[in-house]
Amino acid sequence: MKNNKDRDAKILAIETSCDETAAAVVIGGRVIISNIIYSQIEIHREFGGVVPEIASRNHIAKIDEVVSAALAAANLDITEIDAVAATAGPGLIGALLVGLSFGKALAYAAGLPIIGVNHIEGHICSNYLENPDFAPPFVCLVVSGGHTHLIYVKDYGEYEVLGKTRDDAAGEAFDKVARSLGLNYPGGVEIDKLAKHGNQTAVNFPRAWLEATSLDFSFSGLKSAVLNYLNSAKMSEQEIVPADVAASFQKALVDVLVEKSISACKLKNAAKLAVAGGVGANSFLRKALTEKCEENKIILNIPSPIFCTDNAAMIASCGYFSYIRGKFDNLNLNAYPNLAGF
Ligand code: KG4
Ligand code: ZN
Repeated sequence: MKNNKDRDAKILAIETSCDETAAAVVIGGRVIISNIIYSQIEIHREFGGVVPEIASRNHIAKIDEVVSAALAAANLDITEIDAVAATAGPGLIGALLVGLSFGKALAYAAGLPIIGVNHIEGHICSNYLENPDFAPPFVCLVVSGGHTHLIYVKDYGEYEVLGKTRDDAAGEAFDKVARSLGLNYPGGVEIDKLAKHGNQTAVNFPRAWLEATSLDFSFSGLKSAVLNYLNSAKMSEQEIVPADVAASFQKALVDVLVEKSISACKLKNAAKLAVAGGVGANSFLRKALTEKCEENKIILNIPSPIFCTDNAAMIASCGYFSYIRGKFDNLNLNAYPNLAGF
């Protein structure tokens, strides 16, 4: 870090990778001074999932208002901002392009640097927002709609992938099982609510541990097992108790996430475990991780649910750590739906 100006850098960030139009201002990568999220969930609910074209159109309709609101809530003018960060991928291409193009235009007009942020790296940085002392090295369990990874964060911006899903992501499994139970979109939060009234030992769904030392995941077998269970129960006219199915499915999935997260900490001799991504908002996962980490004397950091799901404060934090390293992009920066990196 060069000087105090770097330490106090104010990053305005924009996030539009899926169905949230979000903008935030964060100082020094950690202090949130505004965080605006316009969620399109209600719009997509009637379709049972995100409709990419509708998401893009709604981002266009809202982006100006959301970014202006983030600056207003921060009580700042664009001239007081040090850099603009925007999610460049992975995500829905049309949705990403709205936020990124808006960010580039704003940066150009205001004479500010532009920083493209990887959405998954942004999720990891959500761990820096609420706990001023939380810092690398740590293991991070990333569980979102499209990703399930165990990542060793050696230092800011330095990552080693320890394991990842070989098929469905955890969030995808939650959403698909929820759909088969006739629950609303987004499914994860609905299963979380319903499972509270169910018996988690009612159905013994499979846990895919894979090879003994593997930190990879696989959830497609679990998803198929739930679908098969529902189909055969319907065919044999057995009673289905949705809360029991939800609780048993959730328990099977969480068992694997927790066990492998602890194994990853042991492998890297890591004292700290962090969680990132929408499934991190799951109340049962939060409780199970809290208990297991306590048992194993591992310090656990889980962002508040609002910072687990998509937001721009995490993108601002990530942008800040690029800013202090002098890692900037230029106006040729493009959006990449499958942006690699993890
Ligand atoms: O990180 P995120 O907001 O967006 C992506 O980057 O994908 O994650 C969205 C995923 C969805 O699959 C959603 O169902 C899941 O996170 N999710 C939950 C909960 N809240 C959101 N899954 C389980 N329990 C929750 N409470
Ligand atoms: Zn996300």
